[in-house]
Amino acid sequence: MKKTIRDFDLNNKRVIIRVDFNVPIKDNKILDDNRIVMSLKTIKYAIDNNAKIILMSHLGRVKEESDKESKSLKIVAKRLSELLNKEVIFINDTRGKELETAINGLNSGEILLMENTRFEDLEGKKESGNDLELGNYWSSFGDIFINDAFGTSHRSHASNVGIASNLESGIGFLIEEELDKLNLAITNPKKPFAVILGGAKVSDKIGVIKNLVGICDYILIGGGMAYTFLKSKGYNIGKSLLDNESLDFCKDMLEKYNDKIILPLDSIVSKEFDKDVTLKNNENFDNDDIGLDIGEESIELFKNKLKECNTVVWNGPLGYSEIEKYSKGTKDILEYLSNKNKIVIIGGGDTSSSAINFGYKESFTHISTGGGASLELLEGKKLPGIEIIDEK
Ligand code: 3PG
Repeated sequence: MKKTIRDFDLNNKRVIIRVDFNVPIKDNKILDDNRIVMSLKTIKYAIDNNAKIILMSHLGRVKEESDKESKSLKIVAKRLSELLNKEVIFINDTRGKELETAINGLNSGEILLMENTRFEDLEGKKESGNDLELGNYWSSFGDIFINDAFGTSHRSHASNVGIASNLESGIGFLIEEELDKLNLAITNPKKPFAVILGGAKVSDKIGVIKNLVGICDYILIGGGMAYTFLKSKGYNIGKSLLDNESLDFCKDMLEKYNDKIILPLDSIVSKEFDKDVTLKNNENFDNDDIGLDIGEESIELFKNKLKECNTVVWNGPLGYSEIEKYSKGTKDILEYLSNKNKIVIIGGGDTSSSAINFGYKESFTHISTGGGASLELLEGKKLPGIEIIDEK
């Protein structure tokens, strides 16, 4: 068992909390503050326990000097301050005198947010490459390290693995909740257990399929990846997404697990993206059709399978759900699963955003804040940002 923030006496200590404030920002506006909101429990606990709080996070990928302006955490500091109703000191640097002086001057209960850790990637990928000197330097800012950035825990960065190598460490409430809920579903699921997979590419989901096909009762497949499965069964998929390299894998899976792997029966298709739509059965695709959502019969088929199940894990939208006319499959299944007496775990960046944007934030057992991280957990992989944390 990993140590948690509750295992430490935080009083008057300098506590570095790694959070994942990698939130979508457009035109200087935060489009979705869920990750900030979900970090509040740990931050408030640290405030209530008189810690001197140093927050670190990355934001996007920083490849050149000009990225710095759009990738600054300043706007996040403002939002965090509003949510906490408390001042958040923001230092627009990742090292140096000003930052060090501000940290040394922190009083108990005060919060400082440092600038985007990936600004350190500009010279030699120091953050993303877990540079030793950088990890040691950042560790010198704190007495205790708490990792609460679930979304980043599949990365081995200086700001998680690097710091945790040098300080006493624990996980925060957000990571604790993510591990509890995701493990509940995948290690000892209440059967029958269904996995819903969508998104563009089969290759992104091969690890999850391999890891879960043995323990689940159904894998329902939608989204762009469904067409590679349909192609491997000999259907004409027109101009739909095809992941050529995964055709043999799909064929093999369908041969071995024919009863478990459930494919769409029909699709919403367009001749051109975002143009007129038609509902077509798998048998009726023209050479220029593009499948962009699951159709009505498929939605009914999926609901029938889900009706039997007590546990459902869902990763990947069932259609191109950012566009209204291709979002019905995802919306109907979200609605069907909402507020049911089932364990429903929504894992993954786009699936979680769809669930929240379509109004289902409070309707499920758990909505994960991690895209790649939850996927890797579902693949049965160990996450370096969590592995490095001290055991109890
Ligand atoms: C995410 O959004 O998945 C995490 O914040 C990790 O971001 P990254 O894929 O840029 O490492």
